[in-house]
Amino acid sequence: MYAAIALVVFMCLTASTRADQHHQPCHAPNMTGFMSVLSLKGDVKAFGAFTYDSMGKKLRFRSNESHPTNTSMGLDLLMFFDEGIFYEIDSKNQSCEKKTLQCTQHPLDIPDDATFLGTVNTGSASIEGEGLKTNVWTGSMPDMKGHYSMSVTMGCLPVCTMYYHESTSFMVSITEVEVEIKDPDLLVVPACCLGQPLEETPEGTVHSFLNEFM
Ligand SMILES: *[C@@H]1O[C@H](CO)[C@@H](O)[C@H](O)[C@H]1NC(C)=O
Ligand SMILES: *[C@@H]1O[C@H](CO)[C@@H](O)[C@H](O)[C@H]1NC(C)=O
Ligand SMILES: *[C@@H]1O[C@H](CO)[C@@H](O)[C@H](O)[C@H]1NC(C)=O
Ligand SMILES: *[C@@H]1O[C@H](CO)[C@@H](O)[C@H](O)[C@H]1NC(C)=O
Repeated sequence: MYAAIALVVFMCLTASTRADQHHQPCHAPNMTGFMSVLSLKGDVKAFGAFTYDSMGKKLRFRSNESHPTNTSMGLDLLMFFDEGIFYEIDSKNQSCEKKTLQCTQHPLDIPDDATFLGTVNTGSASIEGEGLKTNVWTGSMPDMKGHYSMSVTMGCLPVCTMYYHESTSFMVSITEVEVEIKDPDLLVVPACCLGQPLEETPEGTVHSFLNEFM
């Protein structure tokens, strides 16, 4: 896994720029896959499986217990971007917290206001099966204290996103993607979350998918 992550870091860092065409950000399809989050200092912040409903704008991410990390021990998030709420689930003690999402940016979908930076061929563009062509998009972090750079395949599957932020910079890489929802139950609110009151967000706190790793 670490070798795979190192490879993706390299691919992200070598993205060159050739802004030209007037592209519109594409939207990813339904997906199941793995997501790793790495700080640019080198620690793995999280690794786990995700399920994404692109029309319903729902995301489940569960950290993988065979790859525990300090930040993501038992992290289990179910996000409803359209409703602007999410659940933090603790399946061990069947507890759940329901919170408001202050920002809906996440690494599986290109924000509508992103700017097209260019197309990058990683590996070989001329040898069949030896290259990956990606489009790179960029934009500001929601709080304007940084920016992101997001690479997606021609079919809009996310490959990796770098978040450069004043407090912490990190990279999210997406692997083993399948363009279907393999287990729709993962996007259903679990029984232990039903009837949970919406927790108040303390003044100055921002809840978002990205903030779970910052
Ligand atoms: C945990 O990660 C391993 C790969 O390292 C994978 O085979 C396994 O399916 C993952 N488990 C879950 C629950 O995602
Ligand atoms: C994506 O998944 C949702 C929820 O399962 C489903 O309603 C929708 O039809 C799927 N979209 C596609 C394009 O398969
Ligand atoms: C977790 O935190 C401990 C104590 O702060 C540190 O010694 C350890 O290296 C960290 N482990 C990982 C995987 O980041
Ligand atoms: C469940 O466990 C977490 C930590 O593992 C703890 O923070 C939380 O308070 C627990 N909830 C309940 C209802 O016991």
